[in-house]
Amino acid sequence: MSLANKVRERFAAEFAADPAFVVRAPGRVNLIGEHTDYNDGFVFPLAIDRATFIALRPRNDNRVLAISLDMDDRREFALGDLRSPTEVDWIDYLIGVAWVLQERGYPLSGWEGVVSGDVPIGSGLSSSAALELATARAFHCVSGFGWDTQAMALACQKAENEWLGVNCGIMDQMISAAGLQDRALLIDCRSLQTDSAPLPAGSAVVILDTGTRRGLVDSAYNERRQQCEAAARHFGLPALRDIDSATFAERAHELDGLSRKRARHVVTENERTLRARDAMNAGDALALGALMIESHVSLRDEFEVSSPALDAIVNCANAEPDCYGARMTGAGFGGCAVALVRTESANDFVERVSKRYLEATGNQPSLYVTRASAGAATVYP
Ligand code: GLA
Repeated sequence: MSLANKVRERFAAEFAADPAFVVRAPGRVNLIGEHTDYNDGFVFPLAIDRATFIALRPRNDNRVLAISLDMDDRREFALGDLRSPTEVDWIDYLIGVAWVLQERGYPLSGWEGVVSGDVPIGSGLSSSAALELATARAFHCVSGFGWDTQAMALACQKAENEWLGVNCGIMDQMISAAGLQDRALLIDCRSLQTDSAPLPAGSAVVILDTGTRRGLVDSAYNERRQQCEAAARHFGLPALRDIDSATFAERAHELDGLSRKRARHVVTENERTLRARDAMNAGDALALGALMIESHVSLRDEFEVSSPALDAIVNCANAEPDCYGARMTGAGFGGCAVALVRTESANDFVERVSKRYLEATGNQPSLYVTRASAGAATVYP
């Protein structure tokens, strides 16, 4: 049964009525442009075919009642005076979004509904952004305010930063809000302008979950952000987005060794991401794959956010003749890699790489072919 039907059925069982709305917001995988979003740079993700769904109907008492099928839990809160959590629970994603929307002046109404998603939690595919955008969409349905993709992405990012205490950039919320079916989205993380491109004909995107999850991601992430900001300050620039690789090469010696490595990754990754757009527009899978391979090397050696498991799965993938290129994706230290593969060999690729990686590391991976899907939307009625 589809997830949309599952939440609808459960809604009918709980509330003895059909839901008034079903909303959906997807997770994401990033093809290229990693650790560039908080440097005002470029990213090139696609919204995946895994998503969070909410079946809901309005309530007229300013309360939200949410039943999570995945958490096997039911929670309620009143709109109005919301208090930030001391320990983050799944309902805080909903409360955080309500808090920002209220703060930004959206008139909110309450609702009750059933939530479920199939974006694996903690794997780096942005299950949080999916839950946040689905929540924003639920409020849009019952409260009647207009849906502005950028404004909703920014609101959800603020919920993540200030309510949930995760210092992320704008990529995950923006792609969950603005994704397009069968297309990847080039996002300029400074202007939030987007441009889209189809995947090269005959190529498919495979997600490779290493099965490893790392703690300490947050502190390493924040440390990288600070290093990047310090490097930009050194050059007297608002962000590393503002220096090209030629100028950087001339002035790189001014930075200490570690800052130089961090900054070099960001500067070159931004350029790779723009070249990836050219490769996609030219339908050149080989060129796109080569950029993905370069990106991984830079993330591994310069930015130092890969892990032995990620390197192992990327190596297994790149050893396959029908793989154009593979790299780690998302924040790093564990979670997923992404590969661009010849479509006709994608199923063989999944089988062979799973087996090889398991033999090499002893970790059970999970690989699947994904398709680019649309961003947050109301799917019923
Ligand atoms: C996480 C963050 C994003 C982005 C990536 C790295 O997914 O949530 O904002 O910074 O890491 O590219």
